Amino acid sequence: MRIVQISDTHLTHMEGVTNENFQKLVDFVNDVLKPDLVINTGDLVILSPDSDADRECARAAHERFAAPVRIVPGNHDVGMTGDEPWMGIATTTKRITNFRDGFGTDRFIELPDSTWALIGFNSELLSTGLPEETEQWTWLERIANEVRGRCVALFLHRPLWSPMPDVTDHEIAVHDADRDRILQIFSDSCLKLVASGHLHRFIADQHDETLTISAPSSAFIVKGGSLGLNQLGVVEYRIEGEQIEAYFRSVPTLVEDEPFGLAAFSETLASIEQSRGAVV
Ligand SMILES: [Fe+2]
Ligand SMILES: [Fe+2]
Repeated sequence: MRIVQISDTHLTHMEGVTNENFQKLVDFVNDVLKPDLVINTGDLVILSPDSDADRECARAAHERFAAPVRIVPGNHDVGMTGDEPWMGIATTTKRITNFRDGFGTDRFIELPDSTWALIGFNSELLSTGLPEETEQWTWLERIANEVRGRCVALFLHRPLWSPMPDVTDHEIAVHDADRDRILQIFSDSCLKLVASGHLHRFIADQHDETLTISAPSSAFIVKGGSLGLNQLGVVEYRIEGEQIEAYFRSVPTLVEDEPFGLAAFSETLASIEQSRGAVV
Protein backbone atom coordinates (compact mmCIF):
# COMPACT_ATOMS: atom_id res chain seq x y z
CA MET A 1 0.00 0.00 0.00
CA ARG A 2 1.26 3.44 -0.84
CA ILE A 3 -0.04 6.71 0.59
CA VAL A 4 0.89 10.25 -0.43
CA GLN A 5 0.63 12.95 2.22
CA ILE A 6 0.24 16.48 0.92
CA SER A 7 -0.06 19.49 3.18
CA ASP A 8 -0.41 23.25 3.44
CA THR A 9 -1.67 23.65 -0.10
CA HIS A 10 -3.04 27.18 0.62
CA LEU A 11 -5.39 27.39 -2.37
CA THR A 12 -7.46 30.42 -3.34
CA HIS A 13 -10.15 31.35 -5.85
CA MET A 14 -7.95 34.35 -6.73
CA GLU A 15 -5.51 31.93 -8.38
CA GLY A 16 -1.76 32.55 -8.21
CA VAL A 17 1.34 30.50 -7.62
CA THR A 18 -0.09 28.23 -4.92
CA ASN A 19 -2.84 27.08 -7.27
CA GLU A 20 -0.36 26.62 -10.11
CA ASN A 21 1.87 24.54 -7.84
CA PHE A 22 -1.12 22.44 -6.84
CA GLN A 23 -1.95 21.59 -10.45
CA LYS A 24 1.63 20.37 -10.96
CA LEU A 25 1.38 18.43 -7.72
CA VAL A 26 -1.81 16.65 -8.80
CA ASP A 27 -0.26 15.70 -12.15
CA PHE A 28 2.87 14.37 -10.43
CA VAL A 29 0.88 12.33 -7.91
CA ASN A 30 -1.48 10.95 -10.56
CA ASP A 31 1.13 10.20 -13.23
CA VAL A 32 4.26 9.28 -11.25
CA LEU A 33 3.53 8.32 -7.64
CA LYS A 34 0.13 6.68 -8.31
CA PRO A 35 -0.74 6.06 -4.63
CA ASP A 36 -3.67 4.12 -3.23
CA LEU A 37 -4.68 7.08 -1.08
CA VAL A 38 -3.95 10.82 -0.82
CA ILE A 39 -4.16 12.56 2.55
CA ASN A 40 -4.04 16.36 2.97
CA THR A 41 -3.05 17.38 6.50
CA GLY A 42 -4.55 20.82 6.41
CA ASP A 43 -4.27 24.48 5.54
CA LEU A 44 -6.11 23.69 2.34
CA VAL A 45 -7.06 27.34 1.78
CA ILE A 46 -4.76 30.30 1.44
CA LEU A 47 -5.31 32.15 4.72
CA SER A 48 -8.89 32.72 5.85
CA PRO A 49 -11.39 30.10 7.03
CA ASP A 50 -14.17 32.60 6.30
CA SER A 51 -13.84 32.60 2.52
CA ASP A 52 -16.52 30.35 0.99
CA ALA A 53 -14.95 30.92 -2.42
CA ASP A 54 -11.51 29.70 -1.32
CA ARG A 55 -13.05 26.65 0.32
CA GLU A 56 -14.97 25.78 -2.83
CA CYS A 57 -11.83 26.31 -4.92
CA ALA A 58 -9.88 23.91 -2.69
CA ARG A 59 -12.67 21.33 -2.72
CA ALA A 60 -12.91 21.36 -6.51
CA ALA A 61 -9.12 21.24 -6.96
CA HIS A 62 -8.89 17.99 -4.97
CA GLU A 63 -11.35 16.29 -7.32
CA ARG A 64 -8.56 15.96 -9.91
CA PHE A 65 -6.75 13.29 -7.88
CA ALA A 66 -7.17 9.81 -9.34
CA ALA A 67 -6.83 8.21 -5.90
CA PRO A 68 -9.30 8.66 -3.05
CA VAL A 69 -8.59 11.75 -0.93
CA ARG A 70 -8.94 12.23 2.82
CA ILE A 71 -8.43 15.56 4.56
CA VAL A 72 -8.10 17.13 7.98
CA PRO A 73 -8.27 20.89 8.56
CA GLY A 74 -5.51 23.27 9.55
CA ASN A 75 -5.63 26.59 11.36
CA HIS A 76 -6.28 28.45 8.11
CA ASP A 77 -9.30 26.19 7.44
CA VAL A 78 -11.15 26.39 10.77
CA GLY A 79 -9.26 28.93 12.90
CA MET A 80 -6.60 28.35 15.48
CA THR A 81 -6.69 26.97 18.98
CA GLY A 82 -4.71 28.72 21.73
CA ASP A 83 -4.78 32.05 23.51
CA GLU A 84 -3.37 34.14 20.68
CA PRO A 85 -4.64 32.84 17.33
CA TRP A 86 -3.16 34.38 14.19
CA MET A 87 -4.97 37.66 13.42
CA GLY A 88 -7.49 36.78 16.11
CA ILE A 89 -8.96 33.98 13.99
CA ALA A 90 -9.91 31.36 16.59
CA THR A 91 -11.56 27.99 16.08
CA THR A 92 -15.34 28.42 16.32
CA THR A 93 -18.37 26.21 15.85
CA LYS A 94 -19.34 28.24 12.79
CA ARG A 95 -15.95 27.72 11.14
CA ILE A 96 -16.02 24.00 11.94
CA THR A 97 -19.53 23.77 10.48
CA ASN A 98 -18.48 25.61 7.33
CA PHE A 99 -15.52 23.27 6.85
CA ARG A 100 -17.65 20.16 7.38
CA ASP A 101 -20.27 21.49 4.97
CA GLY A 102 -17.59 22.15 2.36
CA PHE A 103 -15.55 18.97 2.65
CA GLY A 104 -18.01 16.55 4.25
CA THR A 105 -16.05 15.95 7.46
CA ASP A 106 -13.02 17.06 9.44
CA ARG A 107 -11.81 13.54 10.35
CA PHE A 108 -11.57 10.03 8.95
CA ILE A 109 -10.77 6.40 9.67
CA GLU A 110 -9.60 3.99 7.00
CA LEU A 111 -9.06 0.25 7.51
CA PRO A 112 -7.23 -0.68 4.29
CA ASP A 113 -6.44 -4.23 5.45
CA SER A 114 -6.57 -6.39 8.57
CA THR A 115 -3.33 -4.87 9.96
CA TRP A 116 -3.58 -1.09 9.64
CA ALA A 117 -5.82 1.74 10.80
CA LEU A 118 -5.34 5.19 9.26
CA ILE A 119 -6.94 7.87 11.42
CA GLY A 120 -7.20 11.60 10.80
CA PHE A 121 -8.62 14.18 13.17
CA ASN A 122 -8.93 17.92 13.74
CA SER A 123 -5.99 19.24 15.78
CA GLU A 124 -7.45 22.77 15.79
CA LEU A 125 -10.26 21.57 18.09
CA LEU A 126 -7.88 20.53 20.85
CA SER A 127 -8.06 22.64 24.02
CA THR A 128 -10.80 24.85 22.56
CA GLY A 129 -13.49 23.74 25.01
CA LEU A 130 -15.97 23.65 22.16
CA PRO A 131 -18.66 20.95 22.16
CA GLU A 132 -17.10 19.64 18.95
CA GLU A 133 -13.89 18.96 20.88
CA THR A 134 -15.71 16.81 23.44
CA GLU A 135 -17.45 14.96 20.63
CA GLN A 136 -14.10 14.36 18.88
CA TRP A 137 -12.53 12.93 22.07
CA THR A 138 -15.48 10.56 22.38
CA TRP A 139 -15.03 9.53 18.74
CA LEU A 140 -11.29 8.96 19.21
CA GLU A 141 -11.90 6.79 22.28
CA ARG A 142 -14.52 4.75 20.44
CA ILE A 143 -12.45 4.08 17.35
CA ALA A 144 -9.30 3.38 19.42
CA ASN A 145 -11.32 0.60 21.01
CA GLU A 146 -12.33 -0.69 17.60
CA VAL A 147 -8.74 -0.75 16.26
CA ARG A 148 -7.16 -2.17 19.39
CA GLY A 149 -4.07 -4.23 18.49
CA ARG A 150 -3.72 -2.80 14.99
CA CYS A 151 -0.86 -0.75 13.57
CA VAL A 152 -2.07 2.85 13.73
CA ALA A 153 -1.08 5.88 11.66
CA LEU A 154 -2.39 9.24 12.87
CA PHE A 155 -2.77 12.27 10.60
CA LEU A 156 -3.36 15.79 11.94
CA HIS A 157 -2.33 19.34 11.06
CA ARG A 158 -0.30 20.32 14.10
CA PRO A 159 2.62 18.18 15.26
CA LEU A 160 2.15 16.07 18.40
CA TRP A 161 5.74 16.75 19.41
CA SER A 162 7.38 20.10 18.79
CA PRO A 163 10.64 19.76 16.84
CA MET A 164 11.70 22.89 18.73
CA PRO A 165 11.05 21.92 22.37
CA ASP A 166 12.85 25.02 23.66
CA VAL A 167 10.20 27.19 21.99
CA THR A 168 7.22 27.13 24.32
CA ASP A 169 4.90 28.82 21.81
CA HIS A 170 2.07 26.32 21.47
CA GLU A 171 1.35 27.40 17.92
CA ILE A 172 4.02 24.86 16.95
CA ALA A 173 2.60 21.67 18.45
CA VAL A 174 -0.49 20.50 20.30
CA HIS A 175 -0.49 21.02 24.06
CA ASP A 176 1.38 18.41 26.10
CA ALA A 177 -1.81 17.39 27.93
CA ASP A 178 -3.63 16.80 24.63
CA ARG A 179 -0.71 14.78 23.25
CA ASP A 180 -0.55 12.65 26.41
CA ARG A 181 -4.29 12.01 26.22
CA ILE A 182 -4.03 10.94 22.56
CA LEU A 183 -1.12 8.60 23.34
CA GLN A 184 -3.08 7.12 26.24
CA ILE A 185 -6.13 6.57 24.03
CA PHE A 186 -4.08 4.58 21.51
CA SER A 187 -1.89 2.81 24.08
CA ASP A 188 -3.45 -0.57 23.26
CA SER A 189 -2.45 -0.25 19.61
CA CYS A 190 0.94 -0.03 17.93
CA LEU A 191 1.27 3.65 17.09
CA LYS A 192 3.56 3.41 14.08
CA LEU A 193 3.22 6.89 12.60
CA VAL A 194 2.16 10.41 13.51
CA ALA A 195 2.05 12.58 10.39
CA SER A 196 1.44 16.33 10.53
CA GLY A 197 1.80 19.54 8.54
CA HIS A 198 1.77 23.20 9.62
CA LEU A 199 5.56 23.69 9.71
CA HIS A 200 6.05 23.81 5.91
CA ARG A 201 9.17 21.67 6.33
CA PHE A 202 9.99 18.02 5.92
CA ILE A 203 11.19 16.60 9.22
CA ALA A 204 11.52 12.90 10.06
CA ASP A 205 11.99 11.88 13.67
CA GLN A 206 11.30 9.01 16.05
CA HIS A 207 9.56 8.98 19.44
CA ASP A 208 9.98 5.55 21.00
CA GLU A 209 8.44 3.19 18.42
CA THR A 210 6.60 5.95 16.59
CA LEU A 211 7.85 7.55 13.37
CA THR A 212 6.94 11.25 13.27
CA ILE A 213 6.78 13.07 9.96
CA SER A 214 6.29 16.78 9.33
CA ALA A 215 5.19 17.14 5.72
CA PRO A 216 6.43 19.91 3.47
CA SER A 217 4.07 22.42 1.90
CA SER A 218 3.37 22.33 -1.81
CA ALA A 219 2.50 26.03 -1.81
CA PHE A 220 5.35 28.08 -0.36
CA ILE A 221 8.34 27.78 1.91
CA VAL A 222 8.77 29.72 5.16
CA LYS A 223 12.23 31.23 5.12
CA GLY A 224 14.51 31.28 8.14
CA GLY A 225 15.77 28.68 10.57
CA SER A 226 17.65 25.51 9.86
CA LEU A 227 15.10 22.93 10.86
CA GLY A 228 14.59 19.95 8.57
CA LEU A 229 14.35 20.24 4.80
CA ASN A 230 13.00 23.60 3.67
CA GLN A 231 11.73 22.54 0.26
CA LEU A 232 8.38 22.10 -1.44
CA GLY A 233 7.17 18.57 -2.00
CA VAL A 234 5.10 15.67 -0.68
CA VAL A 235 5.65 12.57 1.46
CA GLU A 236 5.24 9.06 0.11
CA TYR A 237 4.58 6.23 2.56
CA ARG A 238 5.22 2.61 1.64
CA ILE A 239 3.53 0.04 3.85
CA GLU A 240 4.34 -3.65 3.76
CA GLY A 241 3.04 -5.90 6.51
CA GLU A 242 3.63 -4.02 9.74
CA GLN A 243 6.45 -1.92 8.26
CA ILE A 244 6.06 1.68 7.14
CA GLU A 245 8.69 3.84 5.45
CA ALA A 246 8.47 7.53 4.58
CA TYR A 247 10.12 9.24 1.61
CA PHE A 248 10.32 12.94 0.78
CA ARG A 249 9.36 13.42 -2.86
CA SER A 250 10.28 16.60 -4.67
CA VAL A 251 7.63 17.70 -7.18
CA PRO A 252 9.28 18.97 -10.39
CA THR A 253 8.98 22.65 -11.33
CA LEU A 254 7.12 23.90 -8.25
CA VAL A 255 7.74 27.63 -7.82
CA GLU A 256 8.89 28.65 -4.36
CA ASP A 257 10.34 32.12 -4.82
CA GLU A 258 7.09 34.11 -4.93
CA PRO A 259 5.12 33.20 -1.83
CA PHE A 260 1.37 33.11 -2.33
CA GLY A 261 1.11 35.28 -5.39
CA LEU A 262 1.20 38.67 -3.79
CA ALA A 263 -2.13 39.90 -5.18
CA ALA A 264 -4.05 37.00 -3.64
CA PHE A 265 -2.14 37.35 -0.39
CA SER A 266 -2.85 41.09 -0.07
CA GLU A 267 -6.47 40.72 -1.04
CA THR A 268 -7.02 37.94 1.49
CA LEU A 269 -5.41 39.91 4.29
CA ALA A 270 -7.55 42.94 3.42
CA SER A 271 -10.73 40.84 3.52
CA ILE A 272 -9.73 39.39 6.89
CA GLU A 273 -9.21 42.89 8.25
CA GLN A 274 -12.61 43.94 6.96
CA SER A 275 -14.41 40.99 8.50
CA ARG A 276 -12.71 41.13 11.90
CA GLY A 277 -15.30 41.40 14.61
CA ALA A 278 -18.00 40.29 12.24
CA VAL A 279 -17.42 36.58 12.73
CA VAL A 280 -17.99 34.75 15.98
FE1 LIG B 1 0.35 26.33 6.36
FE1 LIG C 1 -0.95 25.76 9.72
